Amino acid sequence: MYLYHRRKVNGQPNLGWLRSAYFSQIQQLVRQDPVYYALVAATNPERNWRQISFPYYMKAVLPGDYIFFQHLDINVKRYLECGRGKNRIQTSLTLTQENEEECTYVVPGFHSKIAKWWRDLNTRHEGSHTTAGQKIQDHNGNCLKTSDIYTAQDQEKYGAPVPVVCSPGDIRISRPEILHGSGSSKMNGVAKTKRIVVNPWFVGIQEDHSTLDIPESGSWELYSACHRDHKATRNTPSGQFNVHGLPPFRFPASVALRDISALSDALVGLRRWDDPLVMRERDVLLGEDEAASWAFVHRVRARAIQLYKGNVRLARELEEEAYGGSSYYWQKREGKSIDVQYEVKRAEFEESEVEESEQSSAEESEQSSVEESEKSSEEESEQSSAEESE
Ligand SMILES: [Fe+2]
Repeated sequence: MYLYHRRKVNGQPNLGWLRSAYFSQIQQLVRQDPVYYALVAATNPERNWRQISFPYYMKAVLPGDYIFFQHLDINVKRYLECGRGKNRIQTSLTLTQENEEECTYVVPGFHSKIAKWWRDLNTRHEGSHTTAGQKIQDHNGNCLKTSDIYTAQDQEKYGAPVPVVCSPGDIRISRPEILHGSGSSKMNGVAKTKRIVVNPWFVGIQEDHSTLDIPESGSWELYSACHRDHKATRNTPSGQFNVHGLPPFRFPASVALRDISALSDALVGLRRWDDPLVMRERDVLLGEDEAASWAFVHRVRARAIQLYKGNVRLARELEEEAYGGSSYYWQKREGKSIDVQYEVKRAEFEESEVEESEQSSAEESEQSSVEESEKSSEEESEQSSAEESE
């Protein structure tokens, strides 16, 4: 349903993001899952158990979407000065089968090399007026795109991005200092398969129960209101301005998944973390009595699934009521031919896919693997980074 309602916002391509889905049932389910939360709390460098999910859209890559990007989701200068942003562990839950070409790429161990790389980079570009030199001097935001500054020599010295292939149900957890990206050079950054990923974007809440780890990404009060009203925020989880995908209205078929547990409420800002019932459930979940912890998880999940199923039925009804003859579910029931909103016309994509496949077969027989690898590197360095966040 959400893919059917996917549209370009202000003429901007979607780049593999599903900007119509901020509060789909699966997103709400993942945000409020106790095991997911326990993993986030346990991997937080300061063991900050006060977390809230940032209400953001999900990833839904369709064939033909341009998905190549490479970046760091921190302000590198501020991180190295005072550790700012180090607590925002990045996680994602994959719902489809990925492959080595179409998955997240990470540079393993980059957290222990980032300081040296940044020094090298600044020395290399000292006094330089090139685009890269200027970019490094001007770096001031909470995201640094690296496809044009993390060179082949850097990859040799500090590590090349490696694919992290996930299967349905897999969770990826990585530190914020890990350089990462999407899309391999072999496919020129263009997706060939469908890929769906949920990013619950948990953010630490400071002791005043208002300020967040990255203050410019908003406040607890703001997130709480967004979850309550099913509205999007003006900022991204990194604190950047949301220029691409801010929907101007609440999606008419958005149904709140609520009353799962007190702890689940806290994860979406519907209760404070100092609520005694929340603290009681937190103690059971994160406590040493493993049997009690799992009993709590099973109880909460059973309730969540029951509510989820009921909400899916309600969402179908609301979507039909809101969109009438243009409704996804109405058209489906009437046996109409419905397709999701591909940004490349389906016929054009299939055509180019055939051409590419024919071309690559011919190239394979003519070129050595070394030549192919060199070509891919050149092509990759020419591509611009396309993603705002992952
Ligand atoms: Fe990212």
